[in-house]
Amino acid sequence: MKTKITESPEEAASFIRHGGTVAFPTETVYGLGADVFNESAVAKIFEAKRRPADNPLIVHIAQVDQLEKVSSEVTASARAFIDAYFPGPLTVVVRKRPEIPLIATAGLETIGVRMPRHLTAQAFLLACDTPVVAPSANLSGRPSPTTWSAVREDLDGRIECILKGEATTIGLESTVVDCTGNEPVLLRSGAISLEDLRRVVPETKAYVSDISLARRSPGLRHQHYKPSANVQIITTGDSISVAPQAAYIGLHDRREAFALVRVCSTVEDYAHQLFEFFRECDRMKINTVYCEDVPLIGMGHALMDRLQRAAA
Ligand code: TXA
Ligand code: MG
Repeated sequence: MKTKITESPEEAASFIRHGGTVAFPTETVYGLGADVFNESAVAKIFEAKRRPADNPLIVHIAQVDQLEKVSSEVTASARAFIDAYFPGPLTVVVRKRPEIPLIATAGLETIGVRMPRHLTAQAFLLACDTPVVAPSANLSGRPSPTTWSAVREDLDGRIECILKGEATTIGLESTVVDCTGNEPVLLRSGAISLEDLRRVVPETKAYVSDISLARRSPGLRHQHYKPSANVQIITTGDSISVAPQAAYIGLHDRREAFALVRVCSTVEDYAHQLFEFFRECDRMKINTVYCEDVPLIGMGHALMDRLQRAAA
């Protein structure tokens, strides 16, 4: 298949309306979209990404009034988060409508819903005229793409179209909060922190790794965010004996010699650069990536979560 590269949201949307798959930018990472109501189009996403069939997709809407097309039961907590943080880097898990095919939700009766704040994403979703399911637009197990060329690196020839835009601003995937129970549960951290969620619904719980919750979010079982190199988390000031062909990313410069060094200005900048840095390490055949840890404040939670998954 020849992958069309375009900067026109309308042209990209026409591929969705004809049952195709389209990668598009959002403020978090690039997504790989298909019409949620078209089962064969949704199946193409799993095939293109080589994504396990038991990992559910999240659905993207252009406007809040599209919510009723995907969910029949929006709980009070879901409503509160939507009012506070849509459009933005937040995915709210609610009960799905029966019309949503089970392939999209990996058999779950619930669905994650997100409304991106990104202007190109909004123009694209509006032109699609249907809610669009989209996981991150990477091959399964690779770092999420934050640039259109990272999408092309993984999916060229495997999808119908790439909507070319700028590098994403946040660089880590959205916060996911399950709102189907009595108390909301944070399933994945992101730019909207647990503290941000608790400001809206104080009872919000942090995800704790137990079997029943793992069943609620199958994606949490799968490995994520992994470059080919071995990833090690190090603490500021700790001395290390550097492995050959090693790279370093963090907030502080270091004395050791590395083949590749990235010093970031803030935790947000670190989050913004991390996944593209991992890809750069792969291109340079780096063997070991040393990642400096950050304080668990605000975006620091999401960044440490991704570093720990990459190091696991
Ligand atoms: O920022 C993002 O969320 C990006 C952009 C494209 O929107 N998308 C993204 O999708 O990161 P994905 O599929 O890579 O990650 C979605 C996560 C997975 O861990 C999945 O298991 C979880 O959300 N998830 C999806 N639907 C769920 C549901 N119904 N219940 C619980 N967890 C769900
Ligand atoms: Mg993903």
